[in-house]
Amino acid sequence: MKVSRRSHVPPFAVMQVLATANERRAAGHDVLNLCAGEPSTGASDVVREKAAELLRTADLGYTESLGVPALRREIAGHYRRWYDVDVDPARIAVTTGSSGGFLLAFLAAFDVGDRVALARPGYPAYKNILAALGCEVVELDCGPDTRYQPTVSQLMEAYYAGGLDGLVVASPANPTGTMLPPAELAALARWCEEHDVRLISDEIYHGIAYSTDVQQATAAMYADSGAVVVNSFSKYWAMTGWRLGWLVLPDELVGPVDALAGNVALSPPALAQHAGVAAFSPAGYAAAAENVARYATSRAALLDRVDELGWRPVAPADGAFYLYGNVAGFRDAVGGDSVTYCRRLLAEADVAITPGADFDTVGGGDWVRLSFAAAPEVVSRAVDRIVAWHRTL
Ligand SMILES: Cc1ncc(COP(=O)(O)O)c(C=O)c1O
Repeated sequence: MKVSRRSHVPPFAVMQVLATANERRAAGHDVLNLCAGEPSTGASDVVREKAAELLRTADLGYTESLGVPALRREIAGHYRRWYDVDVDPARIAVTTGSSGGFLLAFLAAFDVGDRVALARPGYPAYKNILAALGCEVVELDCGPDTRYQPTVSQLMEAYYAGGLDGLVVASPANPTGTMLPPAELAALARWCEEHDVRLISDEIYHGIAYSTDVQQATAAMYADSGAVVVNSFSKYWAMTGWRLGWLVLPDELVGPVDALAGNVALSPPALAQHAGVAAFSPAGYAAAAENVARYATSRAALLDRVDELGWRPVAPADGAFYLYGNVAGFRDAVGGDSVTYCRRLLAEADVAITPGADFDTVGGGDWVRLSFAAAPEVVSRAVDRIVAWHRTL
C-alpha cells in the first residue's frame, strides 16, 4: 500500500547514537549521555506533589481544547512577571508540548506551498513538520557572522527570490544557544509585519540564559502585528515528558487554533495542565532557577576547557544548555565527519553526543552538540574522557 510522500521526513542521526548508547549501557558500560536535550532532574517537587494530589482527588477528564482557564491565567501572569507585557489569557492556547504547538501554529498560519524561512543550523522539527504539511522551507545560512541567527537582509533576499509567508526564529536557539537581542527581534518583527510575513518565535529556552550582554525579549510584544509565540514547560521547568506547552496567538489565529486543537487532540493532557499551575508558584520558579544555576556551572567549566577539547570555534551558548563545537580538525584523525566522530567517541570512550548533521544538513558534518543539562560532575567526566580519547587518535 502507498505510504505518503509527506511522511518521508529524515530520521535523526542521534537516534542511532542513542540506540548504541542504550545497548552499551545494557552491556554494563558506564555511558555518559550528553545527547539528550533535556534536564536530568525532572519536574519540581511542588509540581509532583500537586500531580499526586490530583491523581487521588480529580476526575482528570478532557479539558477545554485551548487549556484549562486557571493555567491560561497563570501563563498570562508569567508574561507580566517576566517581561512586563500584558497578554490576554484568551490569546493563550495550552498545547501538547511546544511540538504540538508548532503543528497547530503552522496549520493555522500556513497553506500548502507557502514559503517559510528558518535558520540553518536549527532545530530540525520545524522544517520537518513544515515539509510534511506541504510548505516550502527556505533555509537561511546562519554562521558566526550573524551569531547563527537570521537577519533582515537575509529575509529581504529570500523575499525577493520567491516571496515569503513565514519566519521561524528561536532564541535561545538549539543547537547554538545564541540569542536575538531585543533590538534584532524588534527589527525582524517589524520587517515581518511590513511584508505580511508571519513571525513564529520559539521561546522554549527562555529563562535559561547566561549572558548579561543579551537580554531576553519576547515576541508576545508583537502579537498585534501577527507574531506567534511558542513556549513549553519542557526546558525551564524540566517537564519534558509531561507534554505541556503553550502558544501566545494574535487574535485572528485564536479561533482557528481552537478548532484545530479540538479536532487534532481534543485537549492537552489534563493531569499535566492542572499540575502545571504549580510551576508558576514561588517554589516552582525557585526549583527552575536552581537548575539554571547548575547549567551555568557546567557551561563555565566547559567554556574554560574548550582549548583542551580542541573544538574550535564553538557557538556562544548565550542560553539553552548546549555547546555546539566545530570538530572539522579531527576529520583525518577519526577518518570521517562528525557522525564518525560521535560514533567512535561512543564506541571508544563511552561518551554520547549529537552529530551536527541533525541540525545542519549542509555544514553539520563539521559540528557536534554536547548537552550540558546533565549534572556538572557528569559533564566534567565527559570532557576528561573526550580529551583522553583525542590523545589516542
Ligand atoms: C528549540 C526547540 N523547540 C522545541 C522543542 C520541542 O520541545 P517540547 O515539545 O518538549 O516542548 C525542542 C526540544 O528539544 C527544542 O529544542
